[in-house]
Order: sequence, then C-alpha cells, then structure tokens
Amino acid sequence: MLFRARRYRVFLVFATIFVLVFIHFARSREQSPSAWSAPSPIDRHPSSFSPNPPAADTVDHQDSAPIAPPPSDLNPEQHSTEEAKDPSSIENPSDIRPSPSAGLIKPSNDAALKDDGSASGPVWSKLGSEDQEKLEVETPEATWPHPHWQKLPEHYPLASEDLIRLPTGQPKTLPKLQADFKDESSADKMQRVQRLSTIKTTFERAWTGYKTSAMGHDEVMPLRGGYRDPFNGWGATLVDSLDTLWLMDLKEEFSLAVDYIKTIDFTTTKKKEIPVFETVIRYLGGLLSAYDISGHKYDVLLEKAVELAEVLMGAFDTPNRMPGLFHRWAPVSRMQPHRADKKAVLAELGSLSVEFTRLAQLTKEDKYYDAIARITNELEKFQDKTQLPGLWPLKLDASGCRKTKPHLDHEVARGQSPVESATSVLPSMAQPTKALPTDAQSYEEFLEPRDSRSLHDDAQPADYGGGVSAQGFPNSESEYRASFEQQSSETQCREGLATFTGESEKYGLGALADSTYEYLPKEYMLLGGLNEQYHTMYEKALKAARERLLFQPMVKNGRDIRFLSTVSMPKGHGRTRISYDGDHLSCFVGGMVAVGAKIFGNEGDMELAHQLTDACVWAYESTKSGIMPEHFTLVPCKKGESCEWNETAYYKALDPNMQERLARAAARKEAKEKKKAIEEAEATSGSKKKTLGKRERGNWHVIANSDGKSHKKDEAEAEKHEDSDEDEKTPSHEEFATARIRNERLPPGITMLVNRKYLLRPEAIESVFIMYRLTGDNYWREKGWEMFEAVSKHTRTELANSAIDDVTVETPTMLDEMQSFWLAETLKYFYLLFSDPGVVSLDEYVLNTEAHPLKRPQY
Ligand SMILES: *[C@@H]1O[C@H](CO)[C@@H](O)[C@H](O)[C@H]1NC(C)=O
Repeated sequence: MLFRARRYRVFLVFATIFVLVFIHFARSREQSPSAWSAPSPIDRHPSSFSPNPPAADTVDHQDSAPIAPPPSDLNPEQHSTEEAKDPSSIENPSDIRPSPSAGLIKPSNDAALKDDGSASGPVWSKLGSEDQEKLEVETPEATWPHPHWQKLPEHYPLASEDLIRLPTGQPKTLPKLQADFKDESSADKMQRVQRLSTIKTTFERAWTGYKTSAMGHDEVMPLRGGYRDPFNGWGATLVDSLDTLWLMDLKEEFSLAVDYIKTIDFTTTKKKEIPVFETVIRYLGGLLSAYDISGHKYDVLLEKAVELAEVLMGAFDTPNRMPGLFHRWAPVSRMQPHRADKKAVLAELGSLSVEFTRLAQLTKEDKYYDAIARITNELEKFQDKTQLPGLWPLKLDASGCRKTKPHLDHEVARGQSPVESATSVLPSMAQPTKALPTDAQSYEEFLEPRDSRSLHDDAQPADYGGGVSAQGFPNSESEYRASFEQQSSETQCREGLATFTGESEKYGLGALADSTYEYLPKEYMLLGGLNEQYHTMYEKALKAARERLLFQPMVKNGRDIRFLSTVSMPKGHGRTRISYDGDHLSCFVGGMVAVGAKIFGNEGDMELAHQLTDACVWAYESTKSGIMPEHFTLVPCKKGESCEWNETAYYKALDPNMQERLARAAARKEAKEKKKAIEEAEATSGSKKKTLGKRERGNWHVIANSDGKSHKKDEAEAEKHEDSDEDEKTPSHEEFATARIRNERLPPGITMLVNRKYLLRPEAIESVFIMYRLTGDNYWREKGWEMFEAVSKHTRTELANSAIDDVTVETPTMLDEMQSFWLAETLKYFYLLFSDPGVVSLDEYVLNTEAHPLKRPQY
C-alpha cells in the first residue's frame, strides 16, 4: 500500500515536471493572472484542504484594502533582531539544494522545480497566515510557473504637478570628511599590503565558494554547500558582491558577474511578496553602486536597477503613499487597492532614501525621489510628537488610517460589560514591580512584550489592533463590531505616521531602527546639502539619543566607552524600562556620529564617535574568540560619577533578584522539610506498598529522600550528596554570581549574553573604517586587524565563511549560513581599512547601509 502510494507520488512528480516543461515552452511571457491563481490540478497535498476556507475568503476578497502582512521581528533581514534568519528556510528541506556547478543554473529554470514558496521570512512562511500562505508554501501549486509583473494603472496616482522633485541648484561645498594622510614608510606599506592581500584572499575564497555552489542564488550554504533563496532568489550575493569585485580589482570576475546579471528577471519571483527594504538595500543599492563605481560603462546595471525599481514602485501605490513593506507584486494582487503597514519597522520605512535618490539622479526621474521624500516628510512631522521626542518608535503605524477609539460608554450602552469591550482586550502589560529577568529567554520576552513580538499577530494578514484574537478572528461580538467599525472608518487612510497600537513603545538606535538614523547625514550628503530636513532631523535625533539612550558601562581598566540603551515606554500606566544593551547592530552609530560631526561641523562629537566605536572594539576584545556577541547587557554607571570597576556592583547586577531568590529558596526548603516529615511519618506507620517498592530497589535510604532519585551509594555518601544538593539550591549571593560567570562564560562587565552568535555582521568594522578614514589614527587599523584575524579564524569553512553559534568558546559551531553582507560589507570594510585612502574616498562616495558606494554630486 505504502509502496503503491509512493509510486503514485513519483508518478505525480514526473507528471508535474512534464506539465511544467510543456508550459514553459508553450506559454507566452505575459501570463494571465487567472492562470496563475487557478488551483493546481495536481494538488494533492492534505494541507491544501484549508481548515478554514471562509477565512481566506475574508482576507482575500472582502477587505477592500488588504494590507501586506506586517514585517515580523524575526524575518531574515540584516537589520532586524538577533534571531535574524536562524530558523531560515532550512526547515524546508526542499530549500536546500545540492551544489550545482557554477553557471549551469539559470534562476528562471530552477524556479519551476523548487517549491520554496515561503513568503517574506521564515516565521511568516512557517506560521503563515493559516490559509493562503500554507497553500503557497507546501503545495505543488508553488511549483506552478509564476506570473510576470506588468505595468498597471495606479489606484492612488499622483498628478505630475504634485510630484516632489529633486532639489535643484548648485550643490553646497560640504566640509571634507577624510583626514589628510601622510606618506607612509616603506615598512608600514609592506605590512599594509600584506594584510590587504590576506583580506582579498579571504574574499576570493568565499566568492569562489558561492560561485561553485550557489551561483545565481541568494546565499551559499558555506558548510554543506548548496544554497538558500531568502531574498526572492534573484541572486542577492551576486548583486551584493559586484562593487567589491570591482574595487578589489577582480575585474574579470566583475565582468563575468555582469554577464550573469543580464539573465536576472526582476519581473518575476516565486514568492508572493517582495521585502522592500532588503531588496532596496541589497539589490537596488548593489546595482547602482556597481554602475557608479565602474564609471557608468555597464548600461545593463542601470537598466536592471530601473527594471527592479519599477516593480518596487507598486509598493507606494497606497492612499497616503507610504509603502507596503512586503509588496504583493503580482498583477492579480495589485488589482486590489492596498494600504501601508499598520506595524511598520522603522528601519525598513526610513532607509529607502539613499537608493531611490541616487536612482532619481541617474535617471532624472523625479518619481523615485517623490517616493521617499514623502516618507521623510512624514518622519519629520512625527519626530517631535513621539513619546520620546527626537526619536521614532521602533514600530510605526504607516497605514494612515484614522484612529477610531471605541468609546467605553458606547459599548456599555449596547448592553456589553465594559470589561468585554474592545479597549480592554489587550492584556495589561505594565508590571512596574517586576525585576529584570536573569536568563536570556525571559530577557528576550522582556524586551519584546506581546504587542510587538506576537508571532501570530505578525503572521496575520489583517491586524485591526486590539479587537482581534490571535487567530485573527474576533473573540466576541463586541470585538467583532469594534474591528468592523474600525475597518469601515479606515477607507480613507490618507493620514501620515502614527504610533503603532500596541501597549508599549520602544526606542533605540539598534535593531529595527538603525539605518533610518544612519541615512539622515548620508542623504544630506547625497543631495549635496540642498535639503536641510535631513540635517535638522539628524541633530534632533542625536540630541535625544545622547540625553536618553547613551550610557557608560562599567568595565575593567576604566576604558572610556559608550553604548546605547533601549527604552521601553508603556502607553498608559507603568514605568519606563531601560535595557542597557550592547548590540552588534548598533555598532554603526560610532561611524554615523563621526560623519555627522564633520559634515555638520560639530567637531566636539568626534570624541563621542570614538567612545562609541571603541565600545564595540572592547566587546570584540572581551570574548574568548575575539568576536563581539550579537547582543548582551551591561551595568551602567551613573552619569557624572566615576566609573571604576566595582566587583560588588557587578555581582549585584548578576544577582539582581537576590532577595526574592533567597526567600524562594527558604520557602522551598521549608516545604521540603514538611514533606520529609510527613513521609517519615508514613514510613514508620508502615505504608506497605511504598516500603516494599523501595526495598525492591535495595536501597532503604531513598525512603528518606523525597526527590525520588535512587542513590546507589552508602549512607554517608548519600547524606553528603544530599547536603550539597541542598547547597546547590540555595547558593549564596557570591556563589550565584560566580556560578553565572562560569556557566554562562560572561566576560567581565557583561551581565547577560542575550545572543551569543556572530552572524558575519559588518557594523563594528564599518565604524572602525570610518574612524580611520576621518582621523587617520593608526589605532583603528591595528584594532581592525585583530578583528579580522579573529573573525576569519573562527568562521572559516571549507567553502567560504559561516555564521557561528557562540563567540564565548574557543571552537564555536558553524551555523552554515553566509548572508550576502559578508562579501558586500564586512570584507569590503576590512579591505578598505587597509587600502589606499583614495579608494572609495568618503568625500567622493556615500555608502548605503549595505556598504554600496554611491557617487556624491559635484565632488
Ligand atoms: C561598589 O558598589 C557597591 C554596591 O553598589 C557600593 O555599595 C559601594 O559603595 C561601591 N564601592 C565603591 C568603591 O564605589
């Protein structure tokens, strides 16, 4: 029976392939959308029998303005949270392919055979909105050829006189960024060139690994070989690496890569959605910078950038022209109107400016500039109105829909108890008395309370705020009514940015925020200083960050460094909570502050830039591997007070709940003694069954031992063990702290390792590179070299380089993933640190957040 079923499946597979091949040759490029959306005739997958068909219906058709699903905290984005893309598509076995030989696979052919239909990220694809997404992920329908993008009339077009145009006029002469470099001695030069060549060799190895195992795909799997396609499968690593190939003088490789680029078809993808931010910074940025850096000689690079940008422009076709950040690009989707996300990640919304501006400059098409200028305008309006003026919350409501707060008395009047009304559905979060957690798991939960972390919430196609349960359906009639009312009042949706309707708001400069701030001075430079908005916004943001987020951590040897905290502010009652974080993603801030200091003439900020960058260097130096962990917490010093190392204070931070811990232990002990007494009483009164049971095991001693373990030891030893057992449960303050340091391998000063991984990230070396170029101080080259040696040593695989699981051990485990930014950013920054300072001069180029150099005007 089983055998026959298998044979049946094999038959199905062959039938599928046959049909696909037939269709591949038979159909024209332009498919009708209906052909795509029609159910597959060979669909036999059980999960295609949707448990809840009406729900899919509601989502697809009744909602006149479907929203793109909100970005998930855990989607595979470079600038997102720590878990970035760990779950990855690896759980979908079909996503792992054996290594094809280089150049043999064309993305378009392979697309037909690979049923990786997962949407915007691992979480999204796994928990996916019950119905549609599962359909797409798991059924052979996903192997059906996909439609092509086509130009459609916009739902919310802009009249050409309403377009916001690129600023015109003579670009300003901005202050020089780079230091005046002195001639180097020949000994220095020899060493530098040696290092440069070591870095280049590392790049070439990894590039070759990608080429042989994953050419044309998004990422190579650096351990097992094969590939992953988390970014629509257009070849993220290929596009991302172009300019690095050029500036490392691998011109032949560059030219071969450009030939391959010609075959990329940005007008189709297997995935229903395009993650706009990631696509813009990696693909669009990669193409534009390769075009700029190669002297505008390869027209195909700009042509492909335009092809991609045309697809992306559909994301801005919303009532308020804010983009949907996971763009449903297929014609059949775009025929319905969409609005922007109710829960947009700040970094994803605010870091499109540099790429679209450069594209507008190169093509002289103002519509690309208009697209991002409207976001800037809204960010500017909102900047002073947030709970922490100057900074934006990490999550924003970009939908532009008018807020309608259901009135409590209104609900009561309809015979509902106020308790059931929509306003009280949200779980109350504020627990001001709760102490900081001491394990990484609950710490992450602390950082991401339910409002922003709920995966179910994220996975839902429609999110109407509080009135909807985790399944996406109203819990009660009143909730249903509330969500319905909200929905119908939302048809206009022409407002700007607002607070996301969660219970608390978080503010920080790291994960989920980063490049929005980073792009303020960069966009200012790219526009030749002709738009003061970016200047003003930057100054306000830095002022707020300095006052509210900046702290000096207590570390050994009094090193004068600074990190940035994350602040969590409840909407209603409750206390503001501050998390004193060290976070690899935040390491870009040192470089940003240095650039801002020079370009806006705030020379005094250079000291801050030094302290921030050196903080990340310190973190690299703190661990066994010499690599900074992804995310950890520290002990802050009080502002204005001395920041000497204080072991007592450190231990206190390691055991913050000492009082409760000891109280709990005492209570446990008491309960245990009680139980023991009862058992002893039972034993002496001759509970037959029990005694017999124990005797059978031949160890009478366990009778007195309530924990149920049998000790095959003599009485004395057992007693000794029991004592130490007791000790283990109530360690003293000192013992508790030292045990944590030992067991969790905490470097001095770090109170918790929230995430021990290193994902091949660039932010720290990025700031080190900028500090070197801006100061000429050799300190940064020396520190950068130590970082390179540590990173290359611990991440090296047979094929390339891999992310690692734990930087606190001598031999970490390889995670078998190499994001495209390893070649695009990390190795590029290492290389540029040791190259001649004239290579990609910061006075000539602005680097986007994926390290793609874009030409500044009028240099
Ligand atoms: C060290 O920290 C403890 C606990 O916070 C404090 O009581 C003590 O005064 C500190 N010692 C010094 C020298 O600052």
